[in-house]
Amino acid sequence: MVLLALLAGAHQVTAQGTCADLTSVNGQAVCPTCCATWASQGKCDGVQTVLGGANVRDVVCRKTCGAYLCGTCADLTSVNGQAVCATCCATWASQGKCDGVQTVLGGANVRDAVCRKTCSSVCQPPSPSASKQPPPRPPPRPSPRTSPRPPPTVPCISPSMYYIQYPYDLKLSDRYNLTSLANGDCEHRMWVLNTDKPFEAPPEKPTAPRTEMRINNNYASGVHSISFQIFIADGTNASSVMQILGGTGDYKTSLQLRVYDGKLMRYNSASEVLETNVYNRWISVNVTHNVGTNRISIAVSGRAAVDADGRGTPTAGHYFKLGVYGQVGSSRRMEARYRSIKVL
Ligand SMILES: *[C@@H]1O[C@H](CO)[C@@H](O)[C@H](O)[C@H]1NC(C)=O
Ligand SMILES: *[C@@H]1O[C@H](CO)[C@@H](O)[C@H](O)[C@H]1NC(C)=O
Ligand SMILES: *[C@@H]1O[C@H](CO)[C@@H](O)[C@H](O)[C@H]1NC(C)=O
Repeated sequence: MVLLALLAGAHQVTAQGTCADLTSVNGQAVCPTCCATWASQGKCDGVQTVLGGANVRDVVCRKTCGAYLCGTCADLTSVNGQAVCATCCATWASQGKCDGVQTVLGGANVRDAVCRKTCSSVCQPPSPSASKQPPPRPPPRPSPRTSPRPPPTVPCISPSMYYIQYPYDLKLSDRYNLTSLANGDCEHRMWVLNTDKPFEAPPEKPTAPRTEMRINNNYASGVHSISFQIFIADGTNASSVMQILGGTGDYKTSLQLRVYDGKLMRYNSASEVLETNVYNRWISVNVTHNVGTNRISIAVSGRAAVDADGRGTPTAGHYFKLGVYGQVGSSRRMEARYRSIKVL
């Protein structure tokens, strides 16, 4: 609840500073020197992540609890099984180092507790005359094979709606990459090796290697859907690329979309191939889960949806995940990229 409260507060952040050092990169206003400046003042690690849409409201400079750069992390506590820096943000905020809004990225042992230093509402995109950027190129034409229609423009999924799970002994940036696209969309790249450690350190039960976006859309009733574009890197094999967590009995999930030998399948069911030749191209997916009827419908590349039974709803409910999660016999490297993520 603390975490949720912190995340919910993320939208009420007020602007700090003049943001005078804002410039434009790829049509996005970004703070290219803020991080360096703040890092030289010991306020962050100098690693910048841009979160948000076109007018970049959130330029995050990382203060990591990872390699214990933020001190001893003695104030780490656990919320919902996640270790978080409950008081770091408040402390740093009182020192003027950030806004006091904490976002937790990563797995169980939270290596990246982000305290926001926002260049918020005072930031306007630079006027065209002031911009040194060349005029934006027209969007590439979709190849007929990819999609008959241009991909929809979907703003980046809010960082408060997810965190990334990745091997516990690595840094987030070792397995995850967020790119802001010129149209206000975001591309999330996730990759993992089949030799990687699980996302939770012992004594947690070991699980297969994964780098996944855990979406905070917990639900136990109603109709819930996710749409996204997915690009599966060639060579990715025996990997889940999307999950609906939560099932009854022995089932932990109600759906996995997996890739085997270039085919996108429901679990490993060779009779439920949703798309073939999936590698290295963008494919649109919509998954709709109706809890009441225990049915899940999966629409790929705009074709009529394939319906399947769910696997029941446990008391803890369900949530969605995107990302690569090794299955039996997985390839050494698995990678999937996601754009236009929309959760309803
Ligand atoms: C992140 O992705 C972009 C392309 O979207 C790539 O150019 C860049 O090298 C990647 N960065 C890292 C650290 O992997
Ligand atoms: C997914 O498809 C269903 C059925 O067409 C639609 O009602 C829903 O809005 C779509 N979900 C998203 C997130 O776009
Ligand atoms: C992909 O994985 C499946 C399941 O482990 C395996 O049977 C198949 O041979 C693999 N394909 C390649 C090209 O390695």
